[in-house]
Amino acid sequence: MNELEEIKNKIDIVEYVGKYVQLKQSGRNFKGLCPFHSEKTPSFMVSPEKQIWHCFGCNEGGDVISFVEKIEGLTFPEAVKELAAQAGVKLSQNFSERKEPTDKYYAINELACAYYEKALFKPEAKQALDYLKKRGLDDKTIKDFRLGFSPAQGEVVVKELTALGYTKEDLVKAGVANAKNDRVIDQFRNRLMFPITNVQGKTIGFSARVLDDTLPKYINTPETLIYHKSNILFGLDKAKEQARKQDHLVLVEGNMDMIFSYQAGVKNVAASSGTALTESQLDLIKRFTKNIKIAFDVDLAGQNATKRAIELAQDKGFNIKVIEVPEGKDPADLVKNDPDKWIKTCKKAKYVVDYIFDSTFSKYDITNILDKKRATKELLGTISRLPDPVEKEHYLQILAQRIGISLQALTDALRKAKSTTNSKTKKTEALTEKVEEKKTKPISLEEHVMSLLFVAPNYADFFFNKLKPEDFVDPRLVSFAKDLNQLSIDRGEIDLEKWLRKQSKENQEYVNVLTLRIEDEFEEINDESLGEEIFSSVLRLRHNAYEDAKKKLIGQLQEAEKSGDKETLKKTMNELQSLIEQERNI
Ligand code: GTP
Ligand code: MN
Repeated sequence: MNELEEIKNKIDIVEYVGKYVQLKQSGRNFKGLCPFHSEKTPSFMVSPEKQIWHCFGCNEGGDVISFVEKIEGLTFPEAVKELAAQAGVKLSQNFSERKEPTDKYYAINELACAYYEKALFKPEAKQALDYLKKRGLDDKTIKDFRLGFSPAQGEVVVKELTALGYTKEDLVKAGVANAKNDRVIDQFRNRLMFPITNVQGKTIGFSARVLDDTLPKYINTPETLIYHKSNILFGLDKAKEQARKQDHLVLVEGNMDMIFSYQAGVKNVAASSGTALTESQLDLIKRFTKNIKIAFDVDLAGQNATKRAIELAQDKGFNIKVIEVPEGKDPADLVKNDPDKWIKTCKKAKYVVDYIFDSTFSKYDITNILDKKRATKELLGTISRLPDPVEKEHYLQILAQRIGISLQALTDALRKAKSTTNSKTKKTEALTEKVEEKKTKPISLEEHVMSLLFVAPNYADFFFNKLKPEDFVDPRLVSFAKDLNQLSIDRGEIDLEKWLRKQSKENQEYVNVLTLRIEDEFEEINDESLGEEIFSSVLRLRHNAYEDAKKKLIGQLQEAEKSGDKETLKKTMNELQSLIEQERNI
């Protein structure tokens, strides 16, 4: 047994998923509201026998590992590690890092975090605690975010942690100390400490703020083996659950903004920590939602970095809205004065294209011809990036109206602009289409019929009496039917589990999902009605097959008539005749 199987065997999927989703028994399976999309009637199922989960609403599914990946926003190796720890399974080198082990650096940051956290409540930190209170943070927030204080002496963390057995070199590599002229001293001194956590909630570094107006205002952990600035969004671990539930994430610039927003009740919030959004940050967000509301206190149309970030997000398929924060304020200020105001401001977020239109028109004076040309050029650029043709048309019309030129002239101009857009947009477009297709593809009649055989293999005789394997169209189903028919002839019965074990992983998944669907449909229904369903569905499938064959023959007949080919005409007529007779006999 390999490690993955061992983990899956040791973890009860129903119990595990049950920690996140309220599950109710339903026949041999369990059912609940899908945590991955919003729904009112449950279509999320967990099968203890098959050890899988599947949602018939959003068509997501898999085993317990993929559940952890999705719900916690982890990569596959991260999820495996997490589950292995819970199941008490020791992983071999396959899943542990090949590079230098990092456990030590996590441990050091955690210890430092605990130290700063305690230090905030010592007398020497009174000024720091007062500062936080004065800015309007309450006790619970301070505790939730594990805010802390780094004493001024300069070697306290180094002393504390070397006493626990860590070397000075470890501390420098973990980012909590730095080496200066042969001396190793604390990286952070006399500052407010904001622990930076990864998406799993582990402390990987710190953002440290001065208590007054000296510069630099913030000092952050330098890049380490576990802290990569461009890979982190401040607060995402706390925001992720709500981001998924509400299906959007509010993005702010400052760590303080994030904390205040969270305190005010807008909990689906994370901070970019003052940098332009990176591709890996967007990939992180995408694990939870494809909708972002940006609350950067900048003039979007003017700030190229922000504009690029927005374009990057658009290319990645995000839907973007802009939260307009009154000039000169940041979200933290709004919350301090009036938490409800922040909630309302978030709700009023404007669709990004409307926002860009409005800010472009307020930037340019379009009674001036040069300004008018510039505004048009900028906005055509925005329009040309829109993936949806209806939306494109809509904004072209608005632009034509606002600058007072004909739609035709604009469309021509757009065509020119379009030939210069990159192919990346197209690639994303194709990708989203594919996903959409996967989600909406309904089950076919032949899949339904085959699933019935999976749940009621005792009907195989009747089934193959009425239906030949070749009556299926999908080659995968044809091959399943051939296998099962042969088993039924050779053994007189079908051991479905044994058969399934020999199938490829993809086929197993496919069969499991088909089976789960039927089990759901026939949850309370006895064997007899299942028999009736098999009877009527098989007939329907046969009937359809005959209809198709008939249509084909009639087509041939018409061809033969046209060309006057009497021989073929006669032959086809006969075939048609016998087909109609056969159909009568089913
Ligand atoms: P407050 O001034 O306490 O409201 O903090 P803030 O988080 O609102 O800071 P601000 O809006 O000025 O900056 C936004 C973010 O940029 C901060 O949260 C930091 O992550 C980052 N930042 C600001 N100043 C500095 C700095 O001097 N050095 C570094 N490395 N980052 C900074
Ligand atoms: Mn601020």
